[in-house]
Amino acid sequence: MNIGIIGTGNMGTGMGKCWAKNGHNLMFSYSRSEEKLKAAAATVGSEVSVGTPSEAVAFADIVVLSVAWAALEDALKQAGSLDGKILFTIVNPLLPDMSGLAIGTTTSAAEEIAKLAPKARVVESMPIFAEILHSPSTKFGNEVASVFYCGDDVEAKGIVAGLLRELGTEPIDAGGLKNARFVEPSGMLLVQLAYMQQMGQIGIKLLRR
Ligand SMILES: NC(=O)c1ccc[n+]([C@@H]2O[C@H](COP(=O)([O-])OP(=O)(O)OC[C@H]3O[C@@H](n4cnc5c(N)ncnc54)[C@H](OP(=O)(O)O)[C@@H]3O)[C@@H](O)[C@H]2O)c1
Repeated sequence: MNIGIIGTGNMGTGMGKCWAKNGHNLMFSYSRSEEKLKAAAATVGSEVSVGTPSEAVAFADIVVLSVAWAALEDALKQAGSLDGKILFTIVNPLLPDMSGLAIGTTTSAAEEIAKLAPKARVVESMPIFAEILHSPSTKFGNEVASVFYCGDDVEAKGIVAGLLRELGTEPIDAGGLKNARFVEPSGMLLVQLAYMQQMGQIGIKLLRR
């Protein structure tokens, strides 16, 4: 699959490494520094291409949005038309100091993205932490972490679930895109536990019976 990544920080590169290993073609885009963008692509592999956000969209079967909340509107503007594209967002509307969410409970980053790109097939997930993606294994002993994903397009969700499995996680269907308003705070809770409560590299497991 051709994956166009908009936002090539810790998560863009971490997910990119896993997907490159699985044989996907990647194009990296979006940084305030051209040098940083090229260096990010190089850490993932020499075959990873670099372009503008709109070039990444044109290249992609699936567009991955992994920018900071503060950069969201600018990134989508640079992406141009996303009509008909699968748009996989992992954007959590974290305040810059990670003390809370800029929006939530009555809307979500994913719903706001869907408003800005109304014809995109938006799917959201909060995957495991970047540190874990960059580590030698994403497993917790013999266990893999559960991650929630949500969206209104069944086919797009299936494709995203496959990509989440390739990150070494267990994707859990959390329903329609509206449930992003609950998925994003669940990511915020993990940020609190990992960093403020200093629990380090953590993930969650959904138990069922
Ligand atoms: N880190 C995690 O474990 C994790 C887990 C789940 C979800 N997320 C979400 O995934 C998204 C990306 O996270 P990340 O850890 O990859 O972040 P990051 O390393 O800081 O990368 C953020 C990306 O946004 C761009 N950006 C543009 N303007 C920015 C600004 N004003 N402030 C910060 N970044 C700006 C950065 O470009 P430059 O190259 O110019 O910096 C970079 O491409 C965020 O929405 C985050 O909430 C993160």
